[in-house]
Amino acid sequence: MPPRLLHPFAKPAKDGFRNLVKSEGVRLWDDAGNEYIDALGSLWYCQVGYGQTEIVDAVAKQLGTLNYNVFDPWANGVSEEAAARIADLSPLDGSRVFLCCSGSESVDTAFKIARKVAHLKGEPDRQIMVRRTRGYHGVNAAGTSLQGIAPNREDWGDLVPHVVEVDPDDIESAAKLFAEHGDQIAGVISEPVQGAGGVFPPSPEYLRRLREMCDKAGSLLIFDEVICGFGRTGSWFASQTYDVQPDLITFAKGATSGYQPLGGVILSRAVCDTFESDPEFLFRHGYTYSGHPASAAAAIANIDIIEREGLVDRANEIGVRFEAGLSAMVGDGLLNAVRGVGAIWAGQLPEGTEPAQTIAIRDNMLDNGVICRPIGDSLAFCPPLVMTDDDIDTVLDVMATAITH
Ligand SMILES: Cc1ncc(COP(=O)(O)O)c(C=O)c1O
Repeated sequence: MPPRLLHPFAKPAKDGFRNLVKSEGVRLWDDAGNEYIDALGSLWYCQVGYGQTEIVDAVAKQLGTLNYNVFDPWANGVSEEAAARIADLSPLDGSRVFLCCSGSESVDTAFKIARKVAHLKGEPDRQIMVRRTRGYHGVNAAGTSLQGIAPNREDWGDLVPHVVEVDPDDIESAAKLFAEHGDQIAGVISEPVQGAGGVFPPSPEYLRRLREMCDKAGSLLIFDEVICGFGRTGSWFASQTYDVQPDLITFAKGATSGYQPLGGVILSRAVCDTFESDPEFLFRHGYTYSGHPASAAAAIANIDIIEREGLVDRANEIGVRFEAGLSAMVGDGLLNAVRGVGAIWAGQLPEGTEPAQTIAIRDNMLDNGVICRPIGDSLAFCPPLVMTDDDIDTVLDVMATAITH
């Protein structure tokens, strides 16, 4: 009999999930007494590790003090402070922050903002949104349409129209689209480092050229930093790692390290100017839990920890160790290739490895106490930024053993 909980991204007929009972630091325990090192930060989100009482206490204190919405006419100090902290860490000077509860909500918000900006500028027919193959942008209506992982788009009926896909590596594909339809393109959405699609850092110049094309055509560039943000790529935002400024940044996950649901969109000053220029314009968008004080309190405490513990720099150290370990496996013939930056990495298994074999290797690693993510022919890692060198070495050892068995 399957469980009463319908699990996300799972076969509804499946039974036999691993039942977790405790999380602490970078470790988890299940009800069968097994211990796991989490080299995936849960679902690419836990920067500061589990059991951080500072965040738990901040959330509890906030809920006991004030819990109210921020729809007009209401405001509160903690939601405003979270927005200001995030805006100040971002590369977008003079930006403002819209808050929601997930990456999917942030993507659908950015999608609507891109089209609304075109509308406000007197170009209501500028509706095309560009996605990259392999991109993952969540599962809401716009995000499903914007994502470049085909199976996630299939059999849900008609999706949002006017979405066009470009090659994720060959920038000339986007150049051709812009040359033909630039004046109809409202925006381009791209993860700076594609995560769920398999951990693909951008090819050199890809993001910079996208920026140039958007500038020339008057289109908005949206960086989906739901995974990349909050230190993951070795800077607060990947926009800084790759030195390309988008118009909108979507974020979630690492914003609270998952202690509370929080997502959002950072709007550049130019986008804010468009919104603010007409005092009568009403931003007719928002979620009941936008700016939820508990999520805001979690974000502030989480950012405090990342700053105090130097976790953005730690991401780069983690990267050096992962890259060295995975490259050694390439040298030993256990892997075909290595991809990554900062603290997000993937090892590609030898040519011809089927997805089922990747899953079998992942299962072997789980049985030996290490959590990673199988994606096609690759194993992906996105560890908490508090992971020690010893734990990284254990992760890599368990991986190497699992591949050779
Ligand atoms: C880049 C990116 N965008 C959006 C999302 C969707 O976020 P959520 O699952 O919080 O809705 C994800 C989730 O993995 C993501 O990786």
